[in-house]
Amino acid sequence: MCGIVGYIGNKKAYPVLIKGLSRLEYRGYDSAGIALLENQDKLNVYKRAGKVQDLVDYIGDSSTEGNVGIGHTRWATHGLPNDTNAHPHFSSDGNIMLVHNGIIENYDIIKKELTKRGHSFQTETDTEVLVHLIEEVYKKSGVSIEEAVRTSLNEVHGAYAIAVICKDTPDKIICARKSSPLVIGVGEDEYYVASDATPIVEYTKNVVYLEDEQIAIVDKNNGLRIISIANVEVSPYIQELELQLEELEKGGYEHFMLKEIYEQPRAIHDSFRGRLNASEGWISLGGIKDYEEQIANADRIIIIACGTSWHAGLVGEYYFEDLARIPVEVEYASEFRYRNPVIRKNDVVIAVSQSGETADTMAALKMAKAEGATLLGIVNVVGSSISRITDAGSYTHAGPEIGVASTKAFTTQVTVLAMMAMAIGKKRGTISDKRFNNLLIEMEALPTKIEKLLKSNDYIQGIAEIYKDASNALFLGRGSAFPIALEGALKLKEISYIHAEGYPAAEMKHGPIALIDEEMPVFVIATKGPHYEKVVSNIQEVKARKGKIIAVVTKGDTAVREIADHFIEIPDTDDVLVPILATVPFQLISYHIAVMRECNVDQPRNLAKSVTVE
Ligand code: AGP
Repeated sequence: MCGIVGYIGNKKAYPVLIKGLSRLEYRGYDSAGIALLENQDKLNVYKRAGKVQDLVDYIGDSSTEGNVGIGHTRWATHGLPNDTNAHPHFSSDGNIMLVHNGIIENYDIIKKELTKRGHSFQTETDTEVLVHLIEEVYKKSGVSIEEAVRTSLNEVHGAYAIAVICKDTPDKIICARKSSPLVIGVGEDEYYVASDATPIVEYTKNVVYLEDEQIAIVDKNNGLRIISIANVEVSPYIQELELQLEELEKGGYEHFMLKEIYEQPRAIHDSFRGRLNASEGWISLGGIKDYEEQIANADRIIIIACGTSWHAGLVGEYYFEDLARIPVEVEYASEFRYRNPVIRKNDVVIAVSQSGETADTMAALKMAKAEGATLLGIVNVVGSSISRITDAGSYTHAGPEIGVASTKAFTTQVTVLAMMAMAIGKKRGTISDKRFNNLLIEMEALPTKIEKLLKSNDYIQGIAEIYKDASNALFLGRGSAFPIALEGALKLKEISYIHAEGYPAAEMKHGPIALIDEEMPVFVIATKGPHYEKVVSNIQEVKARKGKIIAVVTKGDTAVREIADHFIEIPDTDDVLVPILATVPFQLISYHIAVMRECNVDQPRNLAKSVTVE
């Protein structure tokens, strides 16, 4: 997720752009850049890896004149976060500048075609390809810049929110969007463009939310004009903003954590976008392509991680052993690095990490590297230390996760692990075509199923209200749902400070059942699948000791709802993917209990988003 801004009017664009980028830094902070158009001959472009303040320091006393400009703060998806890959990107002749939030999925095909036509590229980004395509159309067809943008966008697949300026037409900004948000602020003879309303609200409350496949021609002299990508005029619908600035940065949600829980359908879609296709029956993980042979022939896979990422690794163990029949060990990185483990050259070590900077995970990787193992990363932050030390890997593409309690990063990690295990299982012939294809269909259905699940939020909030004053809680699950019991317990304890433990459901009779009484809420994953009957028995055992049962069940379940105190239905899916869906109710329960207990949900006490110390 990136942030884009634009300004055209009678003010100096520079301060408006910089302040706007600062307001959008929660969307990404790998690099920042601006382009300022003084007139047809004078275009100043400044871009820098790092935060917006780094850009300001870099610009220093350089010229910041110009009443037209665009800016960008980046969350890297293609290409490392460095000065070169920073936006804005420009055409060969430097005449056209563009900033982009999104992913152009077919950029490589377009890049090959443009290269044949003599274009050369300075960056690894998909965005640079788009601005060169616009240039190709603009120059070869002799059409207006807005027509060149419209024609080009008809050729691209993927998601985009773009702002384009051209030296030939210094009184215009051309904007367009598809799947990525874009807002236009309508002032007095001036216009603001931004990824959301946070950079705009202090100047004007009158905004136009661009719709998918719409193009806005923001003209200083002729006003705002909107056309569809099919070139049909659209009358701009100007509405008045009600939200306050603070709320806007959270997209209208009370906390970043809730926003990120609700982003999971989009985040999971982005984690498999361009990587799987159910109708054509394939999975393609470009980031591990060159290492698939090593992984398929590994003696053992060792997954190392910490915290929530370690829970994702535990789910990955079930996936690789079930689908690819490769032995797996899952290790706390902090333990692995100190116990003098046996690591062999034919081991494949997979590090799972949202931040890509966790010190213990990094140290464990370095140790494995020294022993000659193959290193893979499943990381959210592009260009992070772990992504650089590993031989290969797959980014989760969850977008920045601001809330300290990990939510969308976890479900996208599990999604990527499932894709990896399926791809390797397919290669090894350990997964039948039927099962492979059914899993593909179920994976593609995940975003919709989570959307449906999120509709139970109010109902789940009601359950949270009942248990918000509990002193302890237990979470139980069997099979690949056991790690979700651990994750649910971690979510509850780290944001509401209630002591919670996760256990394999069968373990209850080996001690923990002594804890059960009428004060003890027991959250159980009791979805349809190979363990269902056994879990029902475990629920009976808890009920016999007057424990309170909150069960996560498959939609339509009848048996458990008869015996549980509360039940939360999740859509039916393949047992392999239950961990992804079953996590969401626990995220919501923990969130609501923490809010009711007036805890600092986004920055819980004693915690940090990335533990870069040992
Ligand atoms: C989970 O909610 C916590 N934020 C924490 O356990 C986290 O998962 C852990 O510190 C690992 O961080 P990483 O994924 O960035 O490596």
